[in-house]
Amino acid sequence: MAKPTVEIYPEQNALFRAATERIASILAAKLQEKERATLVLTGGNTPRPAYELLSKPPFSERVDWNRVHFFRGDERCVPPDSPESNFGMAWSALISKVNAPPAHIHRIAGELEDAEKAASLYEAEIRSILPGDGVPSFDLVLLGMGEDGHTASLFPGTQWDEERLVVTNHVPQSGARRISMTPRLLNEAKAIILLTAGSNKAKALARAQGDPASDSPVSRIRPARGSLMWMVDRAAASQLI
Ligand code: 6PG
Repeated sequence: MAKPTVEIYPEQNALFRAATERIASILAAKLQEKERATLVLTGGNTPRPAYELLSKPPFSERVDWNRVHFFRGDERCVPPDSPESNFGMAWSALISKVNAPPAHIHRIAGELEDAEKAASLYEAEIRSILPGDGVPSFDLVLLGMGEDGHTASLFPGTQWDEERLVVTNHVPQSGARRISMTPRLLNEAKAIILLTAGSNKAKALARAQGDPASDSPVSRIRPARGSLMWMVDRAAASQLI
C-alpha cells in the first residue's frame, strides 16, 4: 500500500477548490485511458460545495460525464427525495446538473423496507457494472469522516460481514439503519480521497493519522494498491503534530 498523503488547506474554500480540481483531474485522466470512469460519492454535508463546484464550468467541462458511472459509498434507509438522502444531496448538487445517462446512475434503494435486500441488490448491481472474479475496483472513491471516526456508514462499535461488499449497518446513537460499502470493497479503489473539514473533526483526524491501527473505522481505509489522499482544512488538522 502506498503511504497515504495528507494535504492541509488554509480554509474550506481552498480545500473544496483543490478537491474539485483533484476529482476532475483524476476522472479526466481515467477517461483518457479508457471508455468509462467509475466514481463513488460520499454523503454528509462536507462534500456538497465540492459537488456544486464540480457541476459547473470550469471543472464540469473537464469531464465527459456521459462516460462516468456514479455510485454511492453509503445511504440512509430513506427515499431518495428525503432530506436525509445522500443520493438526493448528490443529485441536486451534481448529478442532475451534468446530465449523466440514467443507466450510469447507480443508486442504493434506501427506500426498500428490507435493507438487507437493498444491500444485496446493490452488491449485484456493482458486480454487473464491474464484472470479474475478484473484488470490483472503482476508479475514484470519495469518503468523509465523522467526529467519531466513522466513514461511509461504518460506525465505531458496530460489526459487519467483512466478506461482503455492501452491508446493512446502524447508527449507534440513534439506531437508524444504513447501507454501506465495506472496507473490502472500498480498499480495492484505484484512488480514495478522504475529504474532511472543521475543527470538530480534529480529534478523529489526529487519531486516524496518529494511530493507523486504531479501531476507528476510518483507519480501516487502507487501499491495497491504490492511493489514499486525505484532503483537509487547517481547522480539521489543528491537532496533527
Ligand atoms: C453519511 C456519510 C458519512 C459522512 C460523515 C461526515 O452518510 O453521512 O456517508 O460517512 O461522510 O458522517 O459527515 P459530514 O460531512 O456531514 O460531517
